[in-house]
Amino acid sequence: MNDPVNIKIEKIISDGRGLGRYNGKVFFIKYVIPDEVVQVKEVNEKKNFSEGEIVSILKPSGLRVQPVCKYFGVCGGCSFQHIDYRYHKIIKVEILKELLRMNSKINYDENIEFIESKPYHYRNKITLRVTMDGLGLIKEKSNEFVHIDSCSIVNEKINSIITHLNRINLFDHSINKITIKTSMANKTLLTLYSDLTSADNISLNFQNIDVDNIILFLKNKKPLYLKGKGELVNLIFDNIFYFSHNNFFQVNDYVALKLYSYLSEKITKGDNFLDLYSGLGIYSMIFSPLFKKVYSIESNGSSVYFQRKNLKENKINNINVIKRTIDKTFKLEDDLFFDLVILDPPREGIDGIFLRSLLEKINRQIIYISCDPSTLTRDINIIKEKFFIKDIKIFDMFPQTRHFETVVIFEKF
Ligand SMILES: C[S@@+](CC[C@H](N)C(=O)[O-])C[C@H]1O[C@@H](n2cnc3c(N)ncnc32)[C@H](O)[C@@H]1O
Repeated sequence: MNDPVNIKIEKIISDGRGLGRYNGKVFFIKYVIPDEVVQVKEVNEKKNFSEGEIVSILKPSGLRVQPVCKYFGVCGGCSFQHIDYRYHKIIKVEILKELLRMNSKINYDENIEFIESKPYHYRNKITLRVTMDGLGLIKEKSNEFVHIDSCSIVNEKINSIITHLNRINLFDHSINKITIKTSMANKTLLTLYSDLTSADNISLNFQNIDVDNIILFLKNKKPLYLKGKGELVNLIFDNIFYFSHNNFFQVNDYVALKLYSYLSEKITKGDNFLDLYSGLGIYSMIFSPLFKKVYSIESNGSSVYFQRKNLKENKINNINVIKRTIDKTFKLEDDLFFDLVILDPPREGIDGIFLRSLLEKINRQIIYISCDPSTLTRDINIIKEKFFIKDIKIFDMFPQTRHFETVVIFEKF
């Protein structure tokens, strides 16, 4: 198809693209809004669908707004800056309901509450490449480098560090990648990665870099702590959580705190609580007073180290922290049963064989926290055999992107 065609957009799908049809053929198009009519050029023809690019917008939606960021559509990190934030709720709820229909075989007619975020400047973490052109991002699904001097979804503190580091020109100091993280109290941790095997040729004055902590990784070497102890600390419900560069922490502090508050309303007292994929053990620790015994399972050695350190700091002694990779061979002790299980896996979700065996060991409640609705809804199809859905909420942890955090509360039939 050489000539552009006119297409009306029906909906947004889970990868953030719009879906429309021309002569019955499905087209996927980026940066559109439902009900818009757009003139589209076919750029990639597949057997059952085509990918298209906007040539012009013939009938723009009333929800179309000017993107805040000059890199929108260039770096590939955000999908929805062209849409009024008030409409993101409808898009994300519809995506989830459709995945529930397709993957879980559930027509979910109940209301799904959507917990909003600050629309911009919410992220507490960014990873950037360093090239001779300065700091930048690698465009999604490509090797293309996009230089940036700021990012509209990271917090202001991180943007001020990006400005500072762009001036220093880290490339000349053999640094090829960096990560910047901030704590809730705005303390900062900069992690530098280099292909060099010795720091002798790195002539940076690290004390002059405007951050609280700096860790340097040389090739095949242990990390060097160049400034501060390489640790940040967050306070959640009076519990202290130390963490470092390689520990998972939710990237949106404001929405994370909303999530913890919501969970604390829903969790009631019991005997045994199992916290799977527990990271720094935030759920284990904040809910430990409600249970006689807590079992916290996590595969990342550094996160397990910090969990044990944080247990001591918080003077908690009813949590058993277990370092284990959860996979289909993982078996829990025969005589252990749980009143509550929290599941908070990475994007891949949970192995089906393990999940089926786990369901036999839960007396009352499951709370599944997911950053990927596709694998969540796949796993719900298994869980629904023994548990029913009590509540679903979306926490908008990643505004402007197609991603969101879903929390599903299940109870036993
Ligand atoms: C989405 S994070 C959740 C962490 C924690 N619940 C929190 O809210 O901070 C997922 C965690 O699972 C861990 N993980 C990933 N795959 C795992 C596996 N197969 N077995 C055990 N833990 C795993 C990761 O290291 C990470 O800490």
